Amino acid sequence: MWVLPAVAQTTPRGDDGALSGKDGKDLFLKYTCYGCHGFSGQNGTGARLVPMGMTQAAFLAYVRNPARPNAMPSYSPKALPDADLVTIYNYLKSLPNSEPRAKDVPVLNGILSEVSNPK
Ligand code: HEC
Repeated sequence: MWVLPAVAQTTPRGDDGALSGKDGKDLFLKYTCYGCHGFSGQNGTGARLVPMGMTQAAFLAYVRNPARPNAMPSYSPKALPDADLVTIYNYLKSLPNSEPRAKDVPVLNGILSEVSNPK
């Protein structure tokens, strides 16, 4: 039987054991967060995760013990180690809020100005 040798950990980890934000994307996919929160963390049936306004501690606590366990599965530290969760958090934190604001949508501005200034 073949036994695969342990692969050396090449990606540097920070003091908290977390990887860089870019690796968070892989983990976000690996742990299927995207299935409910969308590839960008901004859509899907789950809550919007971007912009991420939670503290790291609140985020970890939530994923370990979601407010409504029948809406989101809880992830134990065994299934999803703290370091990986912190990496996901850092990734979400790094994502820009790409949702356009109402004032940046020209068509909407046109409608709004017509409604507020009827001719
Ligand atoms: C099966 C679907 C599903 C999966 C998979 C899932 N979530 Fe969720 N998540 C939800 C739903 C639904 C909510 C909103 C729950 C509510 O409103 O009570 C939520 C809420 C959250 C919140 C709270 C957001 C807020 O502002 O209150 C965080 C943080 C979160 N999810 C992170 C994650 C992470 C990280 C993963 C992957 C490790 C993940 N979720 C995987 C469905 C999911």
